[in-house]
Amino acid sequence: MKLRLQVILAQAGVCSRRKAAEHIAAGRVIVDNKIVTEKGLKFDPAHNRILFDAVPLPPPEQKIYLLLNKPRGYVTTLKDPQGRPIVTSLIPDISQRVFPVGRLDYDTEGALLLTNDGDLTQRILHPSNEVNKTYRAVVAGNPGRFQLKLLAAGIELEGRKTAPARLRVIAGANKTTTVEITIHEGRKRQVRKMFAAIGHRVISLKRIAYGKLKLGSLPTGKYRFLTRKDIKLIF
Ligand code: URA
Repeated sequence: MKLRLQVILAQAGVCSRRKAAEHIAAGRVIVDNKIVTEKGLKFDPAHNRILFDAVPLPPPEQKIYLLLNKPRGYVTTLKDPQGRPIVTSLIPDISQRVFPVGRLDYDTEGALLLTNDGDLTQRILHPSNEVNKTYRAVVAGNPGRFQLKLLAAGIELEGRKTAPARLRVIAGANKTTTVEITIHEGRKRQVRKMFAAIGHRVISLKRIAYGKLKLGSLPTGKYRFLTRKDIKLIF
């Protein structure tokens, strides 16, 4: 894929994009044996031979995308001061450094994307893209229709109304109800707080989809590689 030269330098870890523009203007970058000082030219790092200060750029890192079924009792940070298990310990056979896309609470299970593609991470997390996340929540008691409508319309949480949500009751028992809820915001412990706001504690919570990308029958603690087609289902 063709990219602007300063983007290629930044992605190769040479420097920031802004600095890269200065280095290009100063004649420190050679593409296919020619010094390039012109701004904004595009090249393909897989096809063009690019040198910075006469040293070839390292080959572009291969992008990988994983979908993990996170078990309860794992943190999605890369280190935990309390010494709790971290999700990346569940992918020991992956040599690339991958990062979780967003977070899932310690006590929440289910779909967690991990990747080394920073641009995709930004696209998924940026609020303007409104990427839907669907959760299956088992809640205490039996919330009524009116209460669920309140959640669907948006409810005041910490001084700010939540965006509209989609809710669907999956099963009801004597003391608990299973509800599927789809939201596109990513506030901390949002689903738990939303149900708490209508007086129904979340007993267990599982993320079952990002957009139309479903967790499916992936066993707990296991991961699978995602294809480009899978990634398209997220948006
Ligand atoms: N909402 C929560 O309450 N917890 C999560 O982990 C994700 C969404």
